[in-house]
Amino acid sequence: MEEIKNVKGTHDVFGDENNAYEKVESLMKSIAEIYAYKGVRPPVLEYNSVFVRGVGESSDVVRKEMYTFADKGGRDLTLRPEFTAGIMRLAIQNKLYATNELPLKLYYLGPVFRYERPQLGRYRQFNQFGVESIGHNSPMNDVEVIVLAYTILSSLGLENVKIKINTLGDEASRNAYRTALKEYFAKYIGNMCVDCKSRFELNPLRILDCKVPEDRPVIDGAPKIGAYLSKESKERFDAVLEALESLQIPYEIDQGLVRGLDYYSETVFEFHYKSAKGNDYGAIGAGGHYGSLMKELGGPDLPGVGFSFGIERVVSVLSDNNLLNDIAYELDAYIMPLDKSLDLYAQEVAVILRNSGGYKVDVCFDNVKLGNMFKRATNKNAKYAIIIGEDEAKAESVVLKDLASQEQITVKIEDLVDKLDELYETSYPEEEDK
Ligand code: HAM
Repeated sequence: MEEIKNVKGTHDVFGDENNAYEKVESLMKSIAEIYAYKGVRPPVLEYNSVFVRGVGESSDVVRKEMYTFADKGGRDLTLRPEFTAGIMRLAIQNKLYATNELPLKLYYLGPVFRYERPQLGRYRQFNQFGVESIGHNSPMNDVEVIVLAYTILSSLGLENVKIKINTLGDEASRNAYRTALKEYFAKYIGNMCVDCKSRFELNPLRILDCKVPEDRPVIDGAPKIGAYLSKESKERFDAVLEALESLQIPYEIDQGLVRGLDYYSETVFEFHYKSAKGNDYGAIGAGGHYGSLMKELGGPDLPGVGFSFGIERVVSVLSDNNLLNDIAYELDAYIMPLDKSLDLYAQEVAVILRNSGGYKVDVCFDNVKLGNMFKRATNKNAKYAIIIGEDEAKAESVVLKDLASQEQITVKIEDLVDKLDELYETSYPEEEDK
């Protein structure tokens, strides 16, 4: 029989890698909470139109990368290729903008799907964590989301993250810039790649994103957005940069940064990090301001700003840089009944330790030899072994052995949680809050 494998571009996460995902994701969520963002869970499936209208018809994501299909009822559905458009749909449909003070501050985490060519750091199903701050136009909201993203990365141990930042200006600025680009590229477009040819028609700004090496010299010589910015857009961008400077968030202006999704206006940014192993996974996170996405999707005329991290890329960078040291699976205690007849007693001890003590424990129900059980305890990184023989069961007690010091004592079952608390306090003071 042919071996059943995972779908191309997807990946399984298990073992220590799963612990790394948990650690990274819970840190991201807890920092977003500190910044007063609230969690939301939009569905993975949306009507196709959410992304066609939201992300935009000139983006590669909509043109080439969406998992779109008709369901059995003939509905045109898409597995979300990103969160932002779906979050806007959620906010509009549930009128969150009307029932909450603005900005509405939301965070999210989950899988997204893009039909891209799989390569280093590029999957067809991957996970994003992100935030959106919706409905308030101050440049301070742009600053807040950048500081939040930067704080998350430095809390994970990633120092010297490169923040590339640019402005795409307001609509008037972008229209003026598009006209200038069209005029410039008209002379060269005949010799550029097929994608650039269609970008030239749909949205010449997109050409700046082209990765084909032969096209780069022409693109590098193109006019820069700076010269086409309206006074308001320039002032807005300056306010963002000034705030980043005074908050000591390092950045680098990159006038070629246009982002791959159509909804952006004003501030856009990306987070880049070359890992210690020299691997470049592409941007580990990115985002920006969007002036009219909500309106495009049939909602009120409210702006927003946000970013998303690619969890796979963040975990890869952390792993390359040996920043995932404390993720190994650990047990507080491994319970070892010495005979099958003692299994139920062992189960009761486990329930007491888990439910009353909050300790992470496992039980060996295999009735293998004691030496083998100790080996298993070591493999599971258990701190304590709890050994139960017939005598202990009769006396309603257990033998508690510290696997580091090899010291052991007999403890009455009703004193077990207190005793373990006490031992933890002296041996593992940093884990005292157990
Ligand atoms: P994006 O730049 O398309 O932006 O994706 C954000 C992040 O997702 C990227 O920086 C990268 O880390 C990760 N990513 C993208 N494609 C892949 C892939 N094929 N495999 C692995 N990771 C990938 C957005 O999605 C916007 N919604 C961000 C945003 C939020 N803008 C405003 N609010």
